[in-house]
Amino acid sequence: MLFQTARMVRNPLSYLEQCRREFGDIFTLRIALGTMVHLTTPANIKVLFTGEPENLLAGEANYNLFGAISGRGTVFTMDGEAHLHRRRLLSPPFRGERMLQYTELMRDITEQVIATWPVHRPFALHPYMQQITLRVILAAVFGLEVGPQADGLSHLLAMLANVGTSSPLLLMPMLQWDLGRYSPWGRIVHLLKKTHTALDLEIGRRRGLNQESGSREDILSLLLEIKDEEEHPLTDQELRDELIVMLLAGHETTGTTLAWVFERILSEPDVLEKIRVELAAVVGNERLDRQNIARLEFLEATIKEAMRVRPIMPQAGVRKLAAPFEIAGYKLPAGTLVANTPHLLHRNPDLYPEPDRFLPERFLRRNVNPYEWTPFGGGVRRCLGMAFALHEIKVVLATVFTKIRLRLADSPVKVGRRGFFIAPADGTRVVVVGI
Ligand code: HEM
Repeated sequence: MLFQTARMVRNPLSYLEQCRREFGDIFTLRIALGTMVHLTTPANIKVLFTGEPENLLAGEANYNLFGAISGRGTVFTMDGEAHLHRRRLLSPPFRGERMLQYTELMRDITEQVIATWPVHRPFALHPYMQQITLRVILAAVFGLEVGPQADGLSHLLAMLANVGTSSPLLLMPMLQWDLGRYSPWGRIVHLLKKTHTALDLEIGRRRGLNQESGSREDILSLLLEIKDEEEHPLTDQELRDELIVMLLAGHETTGTTLAWVFERILSEPDVLEKIRVELAAVVGNERLDRQNIARLEFLEATIKEAMRVRPIMPQAGVRKLAAPFEIAGYKLPAGTLVANTPHLLHRNPDLYPEPDRFLPERFLRRNVNPYEWTPFGGGVRRCLGMAFALHEIKVVLATVFTKIRLRLADSPVKVGRRGFFIAPADGTRVVVVGI
């Protein structure tokens, strides 16, 4: 187990490729998370994503990793009927067409962060992408103003958002020993308690405000309004835990994906040129807004292609079997973990001819097949924030490429790790060469 875990941590992509070469389309690894069967073909991934949610437990698998932080009763950590019910409640604020209204907010935050970039001097983009995605989540999801004068709650949430990458090992239940405020896990428990108290206060304050004034556009305000079929709203604790899940699920993921998308585009001068031509034709001298962003089709296709070749999760969509399960002729016992493996699925030449080439045209004016393109997982558990993340990535790219000229400082960029995610080893170092 230690050997396989170490190889997955140190060199996940080449290890996965080697496993497929040696063992074929379906293989098992014994890693720290458990015995995990990896699926790499659309047919098997479809079985995983369309199977009975009562047997294929995503919540259980997620709880084992994030439960100590998120709690048991969230959309991320529940299963079966309870999960479906919560998901139905949370979905309306995340629907695709609603995302357009965050365009200007996302654009303004990106412009503020770009204004702090050094000129003619190499720097890593990744930390700036993390700044953008954190500020966007705090503003669009929590309705919090963030800036140099960030208040107490924003500061606590920013620290919590980084736990997954600053101390990923601490997410292993066996290492979660609370030996007081100054022990590694004790510090996180203390941070979590303070964040809960501050969030409870904020939710109480916002319930009052919502009754007075109604119509704010942030997701917390919308969630305060929702009620289930029996007219029950979400309780303060349910709201608080769901908000923490959205922060943890949405910040590092989107920032790391952005670092890769920039790396891919800046490595491909032809693609960069096509993006510039499209921006000039669609946005021109106007400002980016909710009308013109919808017409950036090539940019949208480029993001999908970048996520095809650089999905950030080695396993995106893990299910724990509640009962024995048969797939591709193999009988798997209860307790086994089964995972979608996008890196291998996305490199299949039958699905993507010349898979190593970066060709955004593959995704131009065609819907993606949900079992052939899976960086957001799938089925009833597909990422709730997918439309939000794709829209944010598009706004950030369009804002940057209409404002400044960038080039990569070093290439090729090596593949590295940041916590659970596959990230550019150098954080995608770039140079601003023109404004
Ligand atoms: C590029 C950025 C992102 C990537 C790559 C990503 C990827 C994923 C993946 C692979 C899953 C598991 C899906 C499965 O089990 O089949 C997931 C679940 C989830 N994600 Fe994301 N995510 C991203 C951004 C976001 C954002 C911005 C939010 C919210 C603001 C978010 C909220 C969630 C939630 C709530 C779930 C649990 C859904 C459920 O179990 O029903 N994610 N995400």
